[in-house]
Amino acid sequence: MTVNSISPVQNPLPKATWAETAQVLRDVQGPMVAKGPIIRRPKVVAASERFDLDGRGVRRAQALSDKYGRGPLMLSIPGRNMALILDPEDVHRVLDDSPEPFATAETLKKHALKHFEPKVALISHGAERTQRRRLNEHTLDHGHPIHRMAAAFMPTVEQEAKALLEQVRADGGVLEYQTFLDAWFRIVRRVVLGDSAREDTDLTQLTEKLRADGNWAFLKPVDKTGRAALLSQMQEALDRAEPGSLAAFMAKQPQGSEAEPAQQIPQWFFAFDPAGMATFRALALLATHRESLDAARREISAEQHEAAPMLPLLRATVLESLRLWPTTPMILRETTTDVEFAHGVMPAGTSVLVFAPFFHRDDRQLDFAHRFAPELWDRPRTRDDWPLVPFSAGPGLCPGRHLVLLLTSNFMAEILSRAELDLESHFLDSENLPSLLNNFGLRFRLS
Ligand code: HEM
Repeated sequence: MTVNSISPVQNPLPKATWAETAQVLRDVQGPMVAKGPIIRRPKVVAASERFDLDGRGVRRAQALSDKYGRGPLMLSIPGRNMALILDPEDVHRVLDDSPEPFATAETLKKHALKHFEPKVALISHGAERTQRRRLNEHTLDHGHPIHRMAAAFMPTVEQEAKALLEQVRADGGVLEYQTFLDAWFRIVRRVVLGDSAREDTDLTQLTEKLRADGNWAFLKPVDKTGRAALLSQMQEALDRAEPGSLAAFMAKQPQGSEAEPAQQIPQWFFAFDPAGMATFRALALLATHRESLDAARREISAEQHEAAPMLPLLRATVLESLRLWPTTPMILRETTTDVEFAHGVMPAGTSVLVFAPFFHRDDRQLDFAHRFAPELWDRPRTRDDWPLVPFSAGPGLCPGRHLVLLLTSNFMAEILSRAELDLESHFLDSENLPSLLNNFGLRFRLS
């Protein structure tokens, strides 16, 4: 692995043995593929929690970094170049140097997302990507913690939180995931498409069906009829441009000829689903960390007169939920050319895997690895910090992150200021939080 006299251009990166590659496929990629990369399969998520499968993935990556040092480590997969990132500095490099030479449009991702959004920014490249990414950034108000339209969204959040709590109380006082998610998606449909979409559960079901196809990537043919129906509903919402909706806001943004606005919206619906998971887990964190819960309630009352409260501690709690249990655990890039690393050259066309849980939960390096540490998010994290990348980083950073944190923190605030939540389903050891928290199995009693 040392450079010696061989020119760096000829020097290949370290390569895992066949056995090690099989272990990586089993322990790192396997659980993610089985749980469903595009839409989660609840039974597999429950099994992963029970058997600590996510923890096994982290330990596998730790063992390889103990053996191979900085990497990146090439895997021995026939017909496909794949590399596992092992060094924190390389996480920053790969994400900062996207989309050239590390393209966001990675082959497996393209196969998964083509089922419902073949022209979304994330799997586009070159000039097309530039226009689509820019349209997302403008519409989602990428640079602002409080979206320009926040004041229009907040009443929706409040109404739906109240309706949720009334429903739970009427049904016996137990809050389960599906009920929570249904309320969350009423908010999402109203915010994205407008109030008229509040009850459009058929649309949510269609997106879920196409995402379930996406879980199979190239192994399943694209349902072209379903996809066309979805995209035409997105176009109708853009044409309707209901006041106060993101669709209306998007319709007003500058757009190049390749921007494909209707094809960007399915990604939002897709991504609001993990936001619901992260929020439900964040409530579980607060229910088991009473001091933080008390501090969050003080924050809520201090900001209650704001039109759109910032709620830093609740935002940090959602970020911690995402650090501890990342909803995008595999960030994938693909090299567009040969790329030189300190230990050798990565060939063009290599799929590069940043396995976020390895960096978020590396207990060899981080004393906070397995505990709730909202203080990590007191200031924006930079390239000089250890990589905690729930929303990715660099030019591929999630442009929806501020909007997500705005809506999730305010939804939590509306719930917590009206109800006491006791976590009934799980006992969480605050010094050693589990490698996965099954959102589908979480259950709270409301008082
Ligand atoms: C908890 C919720 C969310 C998480 C953890 C999350 C995380 C991420 C991550 C890790 C990426 C990079 C993926 C990659 O490089 O392969 C990404 C991209 C993206 N996210 Fe999010 N996201 C969330 C919610 C949202 C929401 C609600 C929206 C829109 C309203 C959104 C819009 C996007 C878009 C458009 C991209 C593609 C960016 C690009 O092409 O460069 N995300 N997100």
